[in-house]
Amino acid sequence: MYGNASTFDGFVVMLERMPQTDEHPATPPAHLEFRLEDATHAPSSGNEWWRRSVIYQIYPRSFRDTTGSGIGDLPGITAELHHIASLGVDAIWLSPFFASPQKDAGYDVSDYRAVDPLFGTLADFDELIAEANRLEIKILVDIVPNHCSSEHAMFREALASPRGSAAREHFIFRDGRGKDGQLPPNNWQSHFGGSAWTRVPDPDGAPGQYYLHLFDHSQPDFNWDNPAVGDEFESILRFWLDRGAGGFRVDVAHALIKASGLPDWHGRADGADSPGYPFADAPMFGQPAVHDVYRRWRSICDQYPGERVLCAEANVHPIEAMADWVRPDEMHQSFNFPFLHTGWDAAALKAIITRSLKAFDAVGAPSTWVLSNHDVPRHATRLGAVSPALRPGDGLGPEDVQPDPVLGLARARAATLFMLGLPGGAYIYQGEELGLGDHTLLPHEYRQDPSYARTNGERLGRDGCRVPLPWNDSTPSLGFSDAAGWLPQPEGWGTVTRQAQEADPDSTLHFYRLALDLRRTHNLGLGNLNWVEGTDGAQLLGFGNSGVLVLLNLGTAPVPLPAGDVLLASSATAVARSTEAASGLALNPDAAVWLRP
Ligand code: NOJ
Repeated sequence: MYGNASTFDGFVVMLERMPQTDEHPATPPAHLEFRLEDATHAPSSGNEWWRRSVIYQIYPRSFRDTTGSGIGDLPGITAELHHIASLGVDAIWLSPFFASPQKDAGYDVSDYRAVDPLFGTLADFDELIAEANRLEIKILVDIVPNHCSSEHAMFREALASPRGSAAREHFIFRDGRGKDGQLPPNNWQSHFGGSAWTRVPDPDGAPGQYYLHLFDHSQPDFNWDNPAVGDEFESILRFWLDRGAGGFRVDVAHALIKASGLPDWHGRADGADSPGYPFADAPMFGQPAVHDVYRRWRSICDQYPGERVLCAEANVHPIEAMADWVRPDEMHQSFNFPFLHTGWDAAALKAIITRSLKAFDAVGAPSTWVLSNHDVPRHATRLGAVSPALRPGDGLGPEDVQPDPVLGLARARAATLFMLGLPGGAYIYQGEELGLGDHTLLPHEYRQDPSYARTNGERLGRDGCRVPLPWNDSTPSLGFSDAAGWLPQPEGWGTVTRQAQEADPDSTLHFYRLALDLRRTHNLGLGNLNWVEGTDGAQLLGFGNSGVLVLLNLGTAPVPLPAGDVLLASSATAVARSTEAASGLALNPDAAVWLRP
């Protein structure tokens, strides 16, 4: 049993199968006292659902295939949604399912009002909404406003139209620099590698202008200085809200407006601070006028019943800048990437959590917490990586030293339990409730992420964290599809299918369900946070929230626990008997616990 929600007595029974302390002599730090500091965070004023929500990300192409195409689809989501609802989540964030040539896995949209035939039809979307309503969970649609696909009708029209035409004004076309315009209009780099500009012939075939694409050349950036673009997106938002969408996750929400004159930028392509070029100077990110867009979007959402929400993928920093996206008349939530990118480090975690809560409190918004998504190595892989560390943003490939899966899973469950104890909103990426890591041995010939080809393989890309889910043992792709999945699954996933984990009360799946249940019972999402004094060293990090003590051991020795009811531990070996502790219990390394003192 991996901890339970029962009484202390019940937990002692559970300890019979746990390791004895002589295996791990406890060396408690002398200063360790379980006194709480003053609150870092007071509960924010409202109790709307999005202030305490748990939102589950579905990446449709890897969720469940019902057609035998090898790619997941909307009917697959509808059919399996009850499994996700049974976790106790409030909403689904659905990654793009719109018509798309799939050059960037659907983040290259050719028609924002159509479902790609790969994923189904609009009627399938309506059925998904009906099932979600029945299960009382909301569906958030992933809107991609910074760029579309080069196959979008507006871009095709722009290409077929002369320079300076109204059609070209929907995008960012510029003349090249240098003799005959051989050089791109400025030095901006694509996130996926190479120049952010591609030259196209004029309609008469002569070498013509360049268009801007902050991502792949198949993803032209819209010109948000043109009011027609804003009008079009407001109409698209209404289209999905009218069909019952609970709101939107907004892709690259910080990049829509570019600084006038498009000045050169010598900082990093992702806008991150680099020596001499702080993020605040990035001419393609965080321009003040972008906030006017979201004020209009917020007013549209507010016209609909049921608290429709906006969540920003605003990859800006520091965290205090990110809070600008969730001011009272803008979005409801923003992903907390600095938290995701903080390593296994007590002081750094305490610092970013404190700063996050203060920054979001200052604008009356909840902080959010996230450990995995479709763009980063899963946290079971990240936290199990041994030297040399992961390649930045790209995880591990077959040539790299492989992560330690046992350590990775132990730390991942501990990190999840710690995260779910925090006040605010939490995000879960499909498959993390099964304890899945990346496919770090994925053969290169399967890689589809455009960054792999654009960098000639220097960057692996994000395919490793996007592998189709294992459901059961009914087919070679583990119940994902009757056919082979679009990416192969790693060896060993046959033992961690959802079906296998449903049958095992000790599984990661049951652990997630218990944690979400307790989080709701104790109303942790709307609670406050008081750090435990003296726990920001290398060893232990802890806080109190709504009468629950949340402790995470990031050190190498067991830490004695205070007396109390163990509500939930991160694994069967997380808590052990200890003669050093008054409670008789200690928290082992790479483990977390929720206690009721
Ligand atoms: C962020 C999305 O999460 C990522 O998958 C995509 O490649 C870029 N935005 C471009 O749309």
